[in-house]
Amino acid sequence: MPTRVKSALQVELNETHEKQVDLKEKPVEKNNGIGIENFLHGKVMFIAGATGFFAKVLIEKILRTMPGISKIYLMIRAKDKEDAKQRLKNEIVDVELFKFLKQKYGEHYEAFMYSKLVPVVGNVGTSNLGMEEDLASEIAKEVQIIVNSAGDIVFDQRAREFGWRNTYGFTKALGEMLIDQMRGEIPIVIIRPSGILSTYKEPFPGWIEGIK
Ligand SMILES: NC(=O)c1ccc[n+]([C@@H]2O[C@H](COP(=O)([O-])OP(=O)(O)OC[C@H]3O[C@@H](n4cnc5c(N)ncnc54)[C@H](OP(=O)(O)O)[C@@H]3O)[C@@H](O)[C@H]2O)c1
Repeated sequence: MPTRVKSALQVELNETHEKQVDLKEKPVEKNNGIGIENFLHGKVMFIAGATGFFAKVLIEKILRTMPGISKIYLMIRAKDKEDAKQRLKNEIVDVELFKFLKQKYGEHYEAFMYSKLVPVVGNVGTSNLGMEEDLASEIAKEVQIIVNSAGDIVFDQRAREFGWRNTYGFTKALGEMLIDQMRGEIPIVIIRPSGILSTYKEPFPGWIEGIK
């Protein structure tokens, strides 16, 4: 590699490294953007796949930057309510990803988290999402935003007879077609991110949970 290119690359790597080792919380840059902060104020959300990588990053971002959110129901696979509460504690509340909220709320951290996060036992693969009927209809009346981040991240099951490389892409396509056919008047956003394994900047660089 030519020396000039090498040294330019080195400068870039050094800068990146300096940025990455600065783990102090940066003030969130405020601008009006498209108004997500105002939109979420006082709203009730429902997130499926809450113990997963994506959902945790989303929950952290919302609670850190938009604490005016009213409540977030978190669908968690569990054998009962107690088990769901325990998973909420072990896999969300106690996770390092939330360290800035811990610093901010100190001894009130858990009270803050439990005032916003409500665990609900469920399973997207079963009818009625595996939720108790009364609870499901109560939640349905309250919730304004639903985020589904539940999914099986398995790439080694073949689906060639259906014309797809694996069941991952095949079932995603089926799900999207179903949503499109059944959504009625409900506004829907389908986000297809590329492979993401760790945080880049927020809440701090390099948080990773491994590949399940
Ligand atoms: N990470 C990426 O690079 C990436 C890129 C593109 C798209 N996506 C998509 O984004 C979504 C979330 O990905 P992720 O990286 O956060 O995956 P993840 O860390 O493996 O999390 C998946 C979550 O879905 C839950 N789940 C799985 N099956 C469920 C079911 N039947 N009912 C209820 N919950 C269920 C898991 O619960 P348990 O904890 O109980 O297993 C877990 O909470 C997936 O649809 C994935 O395909 C991810």
